[in-house]
Amino acid sequence: MLKLYLLAPGPTPVPSEALLAMAMPIIHHRSPDFTPVLDAAKNGLKWLYQTKNDVLILCSTGTGGMVGAVNNFFSPGDKVLTVNGGKFGERWTKICKAYGLQAEEIIVEWGYAVKPETIEAKLKNDPSIKGVFVQASETSTGVYHDIEALAKIVRKYENTILIVDAISAIVAHDLRMDEWGIDVMIGGSQKGVMLPPGLAFVGISEKAWKFSEKSKCPRFYFNFKKERENLAKNQTNFTSPVTLIIGLNESIKLLQKEGLENVFKRHERLANATRAAVKALGLELYSKESPSNSVTAVCAPAGIDGQAIYKNLREKYGITAAGGQDHVKGKIFRIAHLGYADTFDVIIAIAGLEMVLKGMGHPVKLGAGVAAAEELLMS
Ligand SMILES: Cc1ncc(COP(=O)(O)O)c(C=O)c1O
Repeated sequence: MLKLYLLAPGPTPVPSEALLAMAMPIIHHRSPDFTPVLDAAKNGLKWLYQTKNDVLILCSTGTGGMVGAVNNFFSPGDKVLTVNGGKFGERWTKICKAYGLQAEEIIVEWGYAVKPETIEAKLKNDPSIKGVFVQASETSTGVYHDIEALAKIVRKYENTILIVDAISAIVAHDLRMDEWGIDVMIGGSQKGVMLPPGLAFVGISEKAWKFSEKSKCPRFYFNFKKERENLAKNQTNFTSPVTLIIGLNESIKLLQKEGLENVFKRHERLANATRAAVKALGLELYSKESPSNSVTAVCAPAGIDGQAIYKNLREKYGITAAGGQDHVKGKIFRIAHLGYADTFDVIIAIAGLEMVLKGMGHPVKLGAGVAAAEELLMS
């Protein structure tokens, strides 16, 4: 038997409390049985998003939330900036272009974070730019973009909104939607909120809702105005993903029991330990600055294929981490510490990594990474 460990940056493991709740018989989404369920989910998401506004719940993967964030707030021809520092930043550009927006890409070298001054200069130079699209955590590179700094800049521009793909950042990073002035923030169920794939969440500021009144992009399924009206009546526009929303309430209960501050601290602790461990093994972090607390991207040692590390972790030790994407495929591998993750998930990942590297003929001292992680995990 090979025991399986899921240490990928999504999907992530689901706690048994949520799994058990989702095993209950299906309830009807237009019946009174569902009203308290959606009401609890609404309140839970407001807490998680640190916002007083309702957070929409969509039956889709995170990308559906990204699409809705483009076609509900903008019109064809609108000028926007998209921060492209990895695979998911590139997706922002593709979606904006699909809806006829004039997207100017801010190319950020993979492994680095966007410089807030770059965005500030662009907006100063052209106040007709209506939106700034960015990731909080760029999952493909393991880099966190400084959302607080970006929000501080964008909120100065009345005609510009900040749209944050926080799909892999929620719970791993403190993202204060209302306090900082994030206008649209997208989440997904299979990441930090510890659920199966299938839900997208979209937090929306009052400023962004005003943009939606002027938006002329075509839309049908992702109609945020209709979703908002339905949510006010504890309904969703179409058939509600009842099972996932029941699970969501259980996951949020667990996070609430821990406390938001502690949730962030746990992710920081796990991320610090993972980084220290890979460095102790003589490996280099792929993120050259601002590493994400949800996933650690690591450069494969010279002469060793990053995909082979990923494959060996899976096949020999049952550990599913992640490889590299696009031009860094084979050059990096990624270890997640996101959602239902704690001390021994890091130890498993690092011990597995040590054994895989040694097995591939790379000179590592077994236990060196684990010891470095333990030092930090005990703190
Ligand atoms: C930062 C980020 N954005 C977007 C996505 C896309 O989400 P989904 O696959 O749920 O559509 C992911 C998923 O890996 C992600 O990590």
